[in-house]
This record gives sequence, structure tokens and C-alpha cells, in this order.
Amino acid sequence: TTNAAATTAPAPAAGKKITLGFAQVGAESGWRTANTKSVQDSAKEAGFDLKFSDAQQKQENQIKAIRTYIQQKVDVIAFSPVVESGWDTVLKEAKDAKIPVILTDRAVDSKDTSLYATFIGSDFVEEGKKAGKWLADKYKDAKEDVNIVELQGTTGSAPANDRKAGFAEEIKGNPHLKVIASQTGDFTRAKGKEVMQAFLKAHKDIKVLYAHNDDMALGAIQAIEAAGLKPGQDITIISVDAVKDGMTAASEGKINFIVECNPLLGPQLMQAVNDVVAGKSIEKRIVTKEGVFTSEDAKKVLADRQY
Ligand code: AHR
Repeated sequence: TTNAAATTAPAPAAGKKITLGFAQVGAESGWRTANTKSVQDSAKEAGFDLKFSDAQQKQENQIKAIRTYIQQKVDVIAFSPVVESGWDTVLKEAKDAKIPVILTDRAVDSKDTSLYATFIGSDFVEEGKKAGKWLADKYKDAKEDVNIVELQGTTGSAPANDRKAGFAEEIKGNPHLKVIASQTGDFTRAKGKEVMQAFLKAHKDIKVLYAHNDDMALGAIQAIEAAGLKPGQDITIISVDAVKDGMTAASEGKINFIVECNPLLGPQLMQAVNDVVAGKSIEKRIVTKEGVFTSEDAKKVLADRQY
């Protein structure tokens, strides 16, 4: 079975070179850049022929790329589904062509789980819960309302759906914790900044920002500073990912709490590809291990952060 803790890609095997078609979401965030590099580096290390495509956050582009991989008769198809719904048809086409599919990073909501071999990635509900738990604990003795604004990830994506749900679950016990506005920032810095600007205009009493990733938090920080407020002090900021830029902002006290989402999925993916091609049994769900960081934690580990 696949080693869930694999941190290095398998060595190239003798015989026919494996062809892997990988349909990436896009290049929307620092996390995604690190994820792409991990996939490309590990494929090289494993000696695979990698066909890589960037869908620019559009499902139709990803479906096109997958169809091209089917026509090219690649050995395995892997992809990070930009949104959760609408994959059954193309996944059936891959199945009919007898090409195994591996999901990485993001899940699909297909009822028929025989359409893919495994799903390797984080538990996004758990990430949302970690964020909510920290906030609920910080404000456990609150006597007045704590107004929260939320920057959601890409609409319909698994991390946006799950991080929202996990967070809501953890704060619902305290009626003072109120999400007064929640909108998508598409996981990008530019959109995070733009939406935060609008939030600040519409609401004078924002106490907390919960951003579904570091990039949106970093964009929002620019908007908060431009409005003459101190990020991390006037507005408590929580985000997800723990990429280097996010960790830098945390070490400066501008982000108060970051939940880690590990982008280095390449080695586990290549191991799974090898196993699937070899006809070995493989776990249906491979969950990535990750932690959390306060500003103090970020200061300690920043120098060693690789991405
Ligand atoms: O699917 C993982 C998410 O996608 C990351 O948290 C976010 O930064 C990225 O764009």
C-alpha cells in the first residue's frame, strides 16, 4: 500500500517509462506554485514522462486537458479538481478507456467512488475547525459581539466549502462570534484586497478576518493598512496554508494564526502512480499531516520554510 508519510519520490524503475497527465487548477496562490513545483520535481525524480496543464481556475479547461490525456493514452491521469461538482462524465470516459485517475489536493462529490483510485490531500474541514477552535478559545469570555468577516476561496471548490463549514461548526457555540460578511476572494491576493476594501467600507466594526488562504489575507492586509488600521492588532487575522509570505506576515504579527495546508504532495502522488500501474492495492484516502502556527511559532520556523 502507499506510504502516507512519503516525502521523497520513488526511484525510477527499469522498463517502460510511465506517462502521467496532470491537470493543475492554475497558478492562483503561493500554495499552488509550491504544489506545482513539488509535482514536477517528484515526477522527474521518479523518471516519469509528465504532461502538465494549467486550467487557470476554469473547470472547462481541466475537462479539456483530461480528455486530451485520454486521447494520448497516458498511463495515469491525476488532477486537482477546481470545483467539487460536475466530474462524473469525464471520469467515466477515463474509466472506459481503462486509465486510472488519482485526485490530489481537492475532492470531487461523485457518488461513484470507483471513478478514481485514490484521493491524496488535506482534510479541509479539519483545517476550518482548527481556525474556528483557536478563535472560539481566544474569545471564550467575550461580553460583546465580535464581528467576523470571511474571505472564501474559489466558489464551489472543496477547500472553500469545507473551510467555511469547519469554522462555522467551531464558533457556533458562542453567540457573540458573528460572521457579518462572507464573500469569495478566489484564493488570490488581488481579489482578497478588493473584497476587504469593500468590507471595510461597508462595516466600521470589523474585529476578525478569517481568510481561506494566505494570499487573500496578504491582499486584505494591504487594504487594512491603506485604511489606516493595524493588521493583527485592530483586526485579528486567521488564514490557512502557511506559505513563506504568510509565515513572514505572521512573524511580523500581522497574521495572528495560520493553519497549515501542505502543498508538497508530489512524492505521495508519484508513489501512488507507481502502485496503481503495478496493480498494487492502494488506500482510497491518503490524508496529509499538518500543524498550526501562532506569530511566535512563525518566528521560530520561518528561516527553514522551503516554500
Ligand atoms: O486546494 C488548496 C488551496 O488552493 C490552497 O489552500 C489555496 O491557497 C489554493 O489556491
